[in-house]
Amino acid sequence: MRIHRIQLEQYRSYPRLDLALPSGNLHLLLGRNGAGKTNILEALSVLSEGESFLGRGEEELVTWDENYYRIRVETVSDAGEEMTLEAVSERVPRTRRAFFVRDVRVPAKEFCGTLPTIVFLPQDLDLFTGPPAARRRLLDRALQQVSPQYRTALDTYQKTLKQRSALLRHIADGTAKIADLAVWNGVLAKEGAKITMRRLELLGVLQCTLAEELERLGEHWDRPILQYERTGEALTEEEIEREILSELDRVIERDILLQATSIGPHRDDWGLIISQRSLPSFASRGQQRTAVLALLFLLGSYLELQRGEKPVVLLDDVFSELDLAHQQALLTAFGDHQVFITATHQPEGLQDAVVWEVTEGAVDVQSPVALS
Ligand SMILES: Nc1ncnc2c1ncn2[C@@H]1O[C@H](COP(=O)(O)OP(=O)(O)OP(=O)(O)O)[C@@H](O)[C@H]1O
Ligand SMILES: [Mg+2]
Repeated sequence: MRIHRIQLEQYRSYPRLDLALPSGNLHLLLGRNGAGKTNILEALSVLSEGESFLGRGEEELVTWDENYYRIRVETVSDAGEEMTLEAVSERVPRTRRAFFVRDVRVPAKEFCGTLPTIVFLPQDLDLFTGPPAARRRLLDRALQQVSPQYRTALDTYQKTLKQRSALLRHIADGTAKIADLAVWNGVLAKEGAKITMRRLELLGVLQCTLAEELERLGEHWDRPILQYERTGEALTEEEIEREILSELDRVIERDILLQATSIGPHRDDWGLIISQRSLPSFASRGQQRTAVLALLFLLGSYLELQRGEKPVVLLDDVFSELDLAHQQALLTAFGDHQVFITATHQPEGLQDAVVWEVTEGAVDVQSPVALS
């Protein structure tokens, strides 16, 4: 899929922006710190995922002192079909969002993934040594784009976690009973099992071609394994549900003390194991980045296969951080995708990009290209 027009209204630093994109695949957004480069990629992530890739709340996305934002893109599918996508979010009288495909309103969960994206953020550069939340997010981001059911399960799970935490506080102060937890435990186990199952399946799919992908990038590691870390080892949804339920019962005293739920997919993690060693324990920083790139490429193929469209690639502030070999690998792997790159300076390894100069609230094409 390709975007050929981006329109923003009252989105963060953009009171109004109307950008017609030329047909080239590579778009470089250049500008000083704080100019508004990430804001543009973030707006595209809202259209893709239904929420900011930085996890910002809706109230932070609307331009200060304004009441709503609108993000609209015109796209063309790989088969040449035109489509418009739009997200509108209102703050007053209450936060309300609406999503539109070809100007027809659709539910959020169906909208997600209509514009498939691969996102690469600075925190992903250290994916394997960083916090588990970033690793979970990588899987969730892909799964939400291919499955409305996954998004529903994740939403329900997160809401239930909050409700369970509130109840744990009431139990701790004596205003509720342990038995009251049963209903929330049931929902967490049911939705948690769905989430765990889909994550296991996704890692299984990525695993199939991981060694091959790493070899293409020059790492000849013996049987690399993507390992999901959780409490329990059941392999069917029903068994996982039972397992989570009994674990929730087992840790109940601790949860009351912590006033938080200490087990479940919101605490799970995953990593890359090679010859029984975890990647960060032996691999150099550069090798770890190779592994991150391999995963991104695999996720790109996964999204393309599942959605039937090449994802749009959003590289926020990462390209200049990569060495020349990794930059070239990225450009080759996503050579036939539309790629947006943000940077403060022209990266050495990037030629042939359409260059946009981003200054506060405005974007101007810098390189002399004919608009198509
Ligand atoms: N809700 C908002 N309304 C208006 N302006 C905002 C809002 N939120 C953020 N901004 C402005 O957006 C700018 C930050 O934009 P952005 O994060 O896109 O910058 P950037 O070009 O990516 O910078 P860097 O190179 O440091 O990553 C800041 O100048 C900030 O003042
Ligand atoms: Mg930025």
